[in-house]
This record gives sequence, structure tokens and C-alpha cells, in this order.
Amino acid sequence: MILVAKNLCKSFEDRKLFTEVNLAIEEGKKIAIVGPSGSGKTTLLNILGLLESADAGFVELAKETVDTQSHKVRNEKIGFIFQFHYLNPDLTVFENLELPRLIKGERLSKIEALTLLQKVQMEDKLDTLTKFLSGGQKQRIAFARALVNNPKIIFADEPTGQLDQDLALQMMELLLSLPQAVVLVTHDRNFALRMQERYELINHRLQAW
Ligand SMILES: Nc1ncnc2c1ncn2[C@@H]1O[C@H](COP(=O)(O)OP(=O)(O)OP(=O)(O)O)[C@@H](O)[C@H]1O
Ligand SMILES: [Mg+2]
Repeated sequence: MILVAKNLCKSFEDRKLFTEVNLAIEEGKKIAIVGPSGSGKTTLLNILGLLESADAGFVELAKETVDTQSHKVRNEKIGFIFQFHYLNPDLTVFENLELPRLIKGERLSKIEALTLLQKVQMEDKLDTLTKFLSGGQKQRIAFARALVNNPKIIFADEPTGQLDQDLALQMMELLLSLPQAVVLVTHDRNFALRMQERYELINHRLQAW
């Protein structure tokens, strides 16, 4: 197992999001999570991805218990494609891609950046400031950035939300073709059906479907 979550519970003040969430993710497995808006899908991804703490329960990555203090583990083992992409608008595409590498104390070569950008058909934007890109273009850069450190697992929160149908399908093909484990949050049940395992976050529980 690359990632195991045991008995995760999370509330915000008096609002209970979920309780007793258990999940075991094998290397390379493609997993979908669906559920109503506000059910806590993004919060759950943030907890699995060590960005946020659970109220109870724990997360193990490659058999080691990890938490939000495990910055190095997060940067090197986990790739995130956020719901709202979080690129730095005043940096170029290349500079955004290089950030996860700089955190490791390493540089990214232009060749590596171009190879990643080719996957998402954005190789002509290497030196463009990301604030000049469309929402869908930013989402594709966020995808490339998630791969920069060749992580073990990728969390993708609605990565097709701002893409037209063709690009959304391409993004799905790309996710499915990756060697990494992928946890995809999506509102699109057709996309969820293409993953190997499916869960729904509903009534405060994560249920297989
Ligand atoms: N930091 C926070 N403090 C307080 N409440 C929060 C916080 N983050 C999220 N929430 C609340 O928790 C609930 C779940 O939010 P979350 O973003 O995880 O839902 P979601 O399932 O991803 O929804 P969507 O499908 O709309 O993206 C929402 O009611 C939200 O307002
Ligand atoms: Mg969300």
C-alpha cells in the first residue's frame, strides 16, 4: 500500500464533515471520490495529502505515519492538482513548475519542463506569466506541476472543472496513463466510472460504490 488512512474524522466547529473514513491505496491504483458539494471531499484530500490535520485517525505513507509537519515527504511523494490550481500569477509557467524542485534544493531544466508541458500541450507557454493564462490553461499547468518531483501519489481535485469536453477527456486519459496512484475528486460520474475503485462521501461516511 502506498497510502493508508485509518478512522479519519473531521469537523469544523459544530459541523461534522465525516467520521471513520478508512482508505487503503495500492501503488498505481486509480481511485475516484464523488459526493455532494460541501460533503468534505476537498477537506479529505487535504488531510490525505498532509495539508490539513484530521481531528482523529491517522495517515500512513509507505507504511510510515505522517502528518502536516512532514513537509519533505509531502513535497517529494505527493503531487497535488488543486480545485483552484494555486499557481503564482506573477511567475512564469517555468518558474511555477520549478517551485517544487527548488523546495528540494534542486533546479528544473528547461528540457524537463518542456517534456512535462508537452503532456498537456502547453509547451509554447514556458515563459508566459501564469496570470495571462485562461482557467483551463492554468489547470493544465497545475497538472504538469504535480508531476515535477515524480511523486508516488497524485491528488486531483476537480481537475477537469474548467476544461472543455475535449480537454477534459484528454486530462482523464493522462491521469489514467500515469504510473502513479491517483485519487480523483470529480462531480462527473462518467469519469469516476473509468477509475479502478470508486467511493462516495455521503452521510458523513466514505462508502464504496
Ligand atoms: N477551514 C475551514 N473552516 C471552516 N469550515 C470549512 C473550512 N474548510 C471547509 N469548510 C467547510 O466544510 C465543508 C466542506 O468543504 P469542502 O470544501 O471540503 O467540500 P467539498 O465536498 O470539496 O465541496 P465542493 O464539491 O463544493 O468542492 C463546507 O461546508 C465548508 O464551508
Ligand atoms: Mg471541493
